[in-house]
Amino acid sequence: MQKINYVLAIETSCDDTSVAIVKEGGWVEALTSASQDTSHAPFGGIVPEIACRNHSINLLPMIEKVLVETKMTWDKIDGIAVTNRPGLIGSLIVGLVTAKTLSQVQQKPYIAINHLEGHLLAPFLKDEKFSPPNDFKYPYVALAISGGHTTIYDIQDFGKYKILGSTLDDAAGEAFDKFGKMLGLGFPGGVKVDKYAQRGDPSKYQFPRSMIKEENLMMSFSGLKSSAQRLVDNLSDEQIREQLFDLCASFQEAICDVLIAKLDRAVQHTSYSRAIITGGVSANSRLRVRAEEWAKKRGITLVIPPIRYCTDNAAMIGYAGLIRLSRGERSSIELGPSPSPYESDFVE
Ligand code: KG4
Ligand code: ZN
Repeated sequence: MQKINYVLAIETSCDDTSVAIVKEGGWVEALTSASQDTSHAPFGGIVPEIACRNHSINLLPMIEKVLVETKMTWDKIDGIAVTNRPGLIGSLIVGLVTAKTLSQVQQKPYIAINHLEGHLLAPFLKDEKFSPPNDFKYPYVALAISGGHTTIYDIQDFGKYKILGSTLDDAAGEAFDKFGKMLGLGFPGGVKVDKYAQRGDPSKYQFPRSMIKEENLMMSFSGLKSSAQRLVDNLSDEQIREQLFDLCASFQEAICDVLIAKLDRAVQHTSYSRAIITGGVSANSRLRVRAEEWAKKRGITLVIPPIRYCTDNAAMIGYAGLIRLSRGERSSIELGPSPSPYESDFVE
């Protein structure tokens, strides 16, 4: 079987364009990501048409950039990994067609990757500043929290991911963004809510913690959103300005309480001693502190990869691709994009 040393990876599933070169063992040789937040901000959310247009402008120069940065030529690259699911179809098409074309032109194998698998394996990435603890290995519990997903997984082994529970409605990131919008903080609001919350009192307002006491791993954030909307509707603009820090801190605390409670339940349910938190919302500073405290108290090895590997990025796609290509897996040139994961992506 062909030895796979270096993989060039492409991620364009949503609104971030990202390209990486990943070396055997999970070493990130180069990673470049272009956020499109400023293009979508005027519309208050992601506009799919704008996302794929930007991907098609950004992608080729970014591929050139990682090759130049690493001083690598195509003869050193052993394969290509690309996200083909789940995501916005137009966005996925840009990455997938580019990967297939490069695969044909450069005569390199390519592999299509489930974006969620990338997030779940992010703790195995390594660079000069980050590497997981030496004893970090399968199995572990993963809490994946982003703008589109809030799911808890049992990561049994490579390729064996079981969904233990997820949100019934809004994703945690979506809740942060909607709350940010209500307060007039722009899009995406998560980072700003986090920033203002640092100066507020988390116990000032009592927001609902839906399903927190239920003995399952399901979550719900739509009640929190409605409750916040009712509260904000009853406040004047001046009151919102005065109360901004406390509002953000109280809202954020409700989300953190639910996420930590469910993570704790998942660890008890599986009896695992390792857990990870991944996805854009794991950048939240309060959640990081709360999760570290929880892990220490419980004696859990917790890995929250650095933000560059938690938000959408091509390095995590490269890592999954490297292992799959090394195992001899190849994707067919006829394969298309899919808005949702495949049933076979998860075990029962
Ligand atoms: O994983 P990601 O970059 O993209 C996907 O949604 O796939 O996650 C983006 C989400 C957005 O909802 C954003 O508001 C949220 O992550 N986010 C945060 C923070 N940074 C990003 N939410 C709360 N606190 C943050 N510091
Ligand atoms: Zn993602």
